[in-house]
Amino acid sequence: MGDATPFWALDPGTTHLNHGSFGACPWPVLDEQLRLRRELESNPTRWFEVTYPSAVRAAREDLARFVGSDPAAVAFATNTTQAVNLAVRAVVARMAPGDEILVTSHAYPACRYAVDAITAAAGVVVRVVDVPGVLDGPAELAGIVLGAVGPRTRAVLVDHVESGTGVVLPVGEIVAALEPDVVVIVDGAHAPGMVDLDLDVLDASFYAGNLHKWVCAPKGAAFVRVAAGWREEVVPLTISHGWGDERSADGGRFHALFDWPGTADPTAWLSVPVAIREIGAAHPDGWDGVRATNRSLVLAAQELMCDELGSTPPVPASMVGSLAVVPLTGRAGSATGQELTAHARSRGFEAKFVVPDGRVGLRLSAHLYNTIDDYARCAEVLSEF
Ligand SMILES: Cc1ncc(COP(=O)(O)O)c(C=O)c1O
Repeated sequence: MGDATPFWALDPGTTHLNHGSFGACPWPVLDEQLRLRRELESNPTRWFEVTYPSAVRAAREDLARFVGSDPAAVAFATNTTQAVNLAVRAVVARMAPGDEILVTSHAYPACRYAVDAITAAAGVVVRVVDVPGVLDGPAELAGIVLGAVGPRTRAVLVDHVESGTGVVLPVGEIVAALEPDVVVIVDGAHAPGMVDLDLDVLDASFYAGNLHKWVCAPKGAAFVRVAAGWREEVVPLTISHGWGDERSADGGRFHALFDWPGTADPTAWLSVPVAIREIGAAHPDGWDGVRATNRSLVLAAQELMCDELGSTPPVPASMVGSLAVVPLTGRAGSATGQELTAHARSRGFEAKFVVPDGRVGLRLSAHLYNTIDDYARCAEVLSEF
């Protein structure tokens, strides 16, 4: 990793090149979560009954501002898998046997399984559109997805940023072309903190996003943004007191249902405002600076590693956010992800190897703790393989 700094909790003895999988939470945010836990445990009854309702409302308002949404449309979730599950349940409930939901071949496997499981019980057909790993640009990708929509397609699940390739999809174009006739669920697991979001403008029926990844909030912080036409009927995966709750005048039934998933530790959600503030303050240009710095670094790292390892970036820079893939060649190119992970780990690197289309690649992440030297040393380690 880059310069050791007390801001990050990361082990300075390891080079961390896989921010994308689980993020990394810095000390000021972990400290805030501990402060909240101490406050909660000092008087649990009072905290849940008096402090929590206004605290969750305030945290949601900060989050909504960050993602460009009316707070009335946003609810916290534990992770994107959960948020996609509940969105698919709502959407499939409106579909008839024989109707189709379209997914891409690069959909995140956990979310694809959710689609398979929920549609199977309803007789809804899952249509898969093949997305190539090598692309000319966003318009080609939008054309492939939109071209696969057929007369029975009622819904589309599309990633904002693909996990296996790091590709940023043109979701604005896709949503504008399909909604409201075809419902769009955007799996934005990687997008908050990587892509500048304006979710009121996008106005997809459902948008699911993680906050523990690029926003660096504690694990357990995610959200779903639900368009107006769905807010009265969508329910969380766990039905609890909100089902019969009359109290939530501001968010109505929607927030009453989502704010109380049964007794749980909501401190990850309540730490989100501090994560937004702390990471934004870590760059002189705020979040614009964070996103631009991470993007420039991952592109420079990809170029350096492709040069060192004799390969070519699979997609143009216009499709890259803070994740980029270096296709592997030679011996590394015929190894398995497990072998490469073990090799990198034995040399002190945490790195993510992906096989989106049968070709193994190294998926690079860049966040503020990384430097170009991290990737130069990783190229050496891979050349030794
Ligand atoms: C595109 C995509 N969707 C969903 C997820 C699932 O996220 P989580 O495990 O936090 O639910 C991920 C995780 O990396 C992802 O990349």
